[in-house]
Amino acid sequence: MAEPPAGAVGGSRSERQRRTATIRIPAVIVYLNGDFLPREEAKISPEDRGFLFADAIYEVARFWRGRPYHLAEHLARMREGLAALEIDADAGFYTAVAQRLLEENDLVESDALVYAQVSRGAAPRAHTFPPPGTPPTVFAFARRTDPDPPPEGGRAILAPDERWGRCNIKSVMLLPNVLAAQRAREAGAMDAILVRDGLALEGTKANLFLASGGRIRTAPNGPHILPGVTRAAAIAAARTLKFPVEERAFTVEEMFAADEVFLASTTLWTYSLVEIDGRRIAGGRPGPIAAQLREALSSEFLRG
Ligand code: PDD
Repeated sequence: MAEPPAGAVGGSRSERQRRTATIRIPAVIVYLNGDFLPREEAKISPEDRGFLFADAIYEVARFWRGRPYHLAEHLARMREGLAALEIDADAGFYTAVAQRLLEENDLVESDALVYAQVSRGAAPRAHTFPPPGTPPTVFAFARRTDPDPPPEGGRAILAPDERWGRCNIKSVMLLPNVLAAQRAREAGAMDAILVRDGLALEGTKANLFLASGGRIRTAPNGPHILPGVTRAAAIAAARTLKFPVEERAFTVEEMFAADEVFLASTTLWTYSLVEIDGRRIAGGRPGPIAAQLREALSSEFLRG
């Protein structure tokens, strides 16, 4: 629909939204290519390669009262993703943009997440890279972290891992994850465990661990999983707590036989799964090792 001419009753759509926003709900301010602006005014070209080809990477870091959790690791992963995909952009924007988004959205005193995405930019559709000098599209927003999931633990389903062979890159090409997560929701579960060649590798948005006989296991970093920031922090915390940790993938059968199975991610810390594909894990109760790790990770964060 065409915008009313300037000066028409009510003014432009964006003016109306801004006015409404200041009266009722404060506008959500996002970052796009150098500007901080109301979300409704952030416009991205339909020829953006993030839209056409999922030719983009993203990152999600957590902030508690404005202090980031393992920011250096998030930035390092973003740099690795940009380099791996040969997107000519620097991850350096993230730190200052995140702080400003927290301020603009009144999240400085909150437990918040800052999502950032960098695409290869907009250009007429062609599979090959656009001409050198095409500016990347950089988009970011902040929001409150979801409330903690229920303490009694979660249910998951198994789903075939249909992802590509470079899962270590945090690309926005998440369709297999999206479809598996939706199957989980339809089954009344919180997540799907992605299974490749009989190995239970990770969730759709979290790494996967088991504990058996006081020993902890998780799949090794490599092309089949995302090198999670929380995964690394959980391994370090486990070693500090003197739990032996083995970075070796486990089979679905090993998972079902484990004392504990838990997810690990920026939004979840560590979180126990108590039922997978209708089978109870560890008597159907969250286990003590996941709880200890969760406590170690979150208290480190809350202390700053
Ligand atoms: N997901 N594995 C996958 C496939 C993920 O997408 C994520 C994060 C993780 C955990 O990584 P970290 O500990 O660095 O958050 C593991 C983010 C949060 C998301 O997609 O929203």
